[in-house]
Amino acid sequence: MKIFLDTANIDEIKKGVNWGIIDGVTTNPTLVSKENSVFEDRIKEICETVKGPVSAEVVSTDYENMIKEAEQLVKISEHVVVKIPMLPDGIKAVKKLSSMGIKTNVTLIFSPLQALLAAKAGATYVSPFIGRLDDVGNTGMTIVEEIRQIFDNYFYETEIIVASVRHTQHVLEAALAGGDIVTIPFGVLDKMFKHPMTNIGLETFSKDWKKYQDYINNK
Ligand code: G3P
Repeated sequence: MKIFLDTANIDEIKKGVNWGIIDGVTTNPTLVSKENSVFEDRIKEICETVKGPVSAEVVSTDYENMIKEAEQLVKISEHVVVKIPMLPDGIKAVKKLSSMGIKTNVTLIFSPLQALLAAKAGATYVSPFIGRLDDVGNTGMTIVEEIRQIFDNYFYETEIIVASVRHTQHVLEAALAGGDIVTIPFGVLDKMFKHPMTNIGLETFSKDWKKYQDYINNK
């Protein structure tokens, strides 16, 4: 399973990349707006750091302008994946970009049928937003399971990025549901390392080793 960081914060990205377990990054206008940086410069810096797929989102909602924005975005780096909203014009743009060899990530997916349309248009990735579905009383992960089944039934190569992840349980459920990728905030990644039994075990090993060293030295 691939792990992407869902952030535009360069310090978090550097930390994750340094651990050697980050395959890519996703951003969106909200995440970029939290950073005091020029959008294009930050995307370039992220691409140079992660050296893997980096989703950068268009803000237009009509076909012509989405294509224009996409053409500018891919000039930033070979790693840029153009994030396109799930709209009829967005799907038309994905079809065109796909024929141009430009990678796309269809975002704001809230149903398996939206994912099917994106896959048919040749999307490289689809991003179901599971946390936001949970927020409105649905079980977000159900659509990941359904998308997985549809893509497997018809051999679509489009990869599923499980997005809008709020906690570590979502990551576990995404992995069990067959999500290709999970994109997570840095805080969730940090928590994935942790278990109290690991710390207790380490303390015991360390104490026992010290006792053993004392025994050897006093022999
Ligand atoms: O990648 C999409 C994701 O960032 C949305 O997350 O937490 O704003 O629902 P959230």
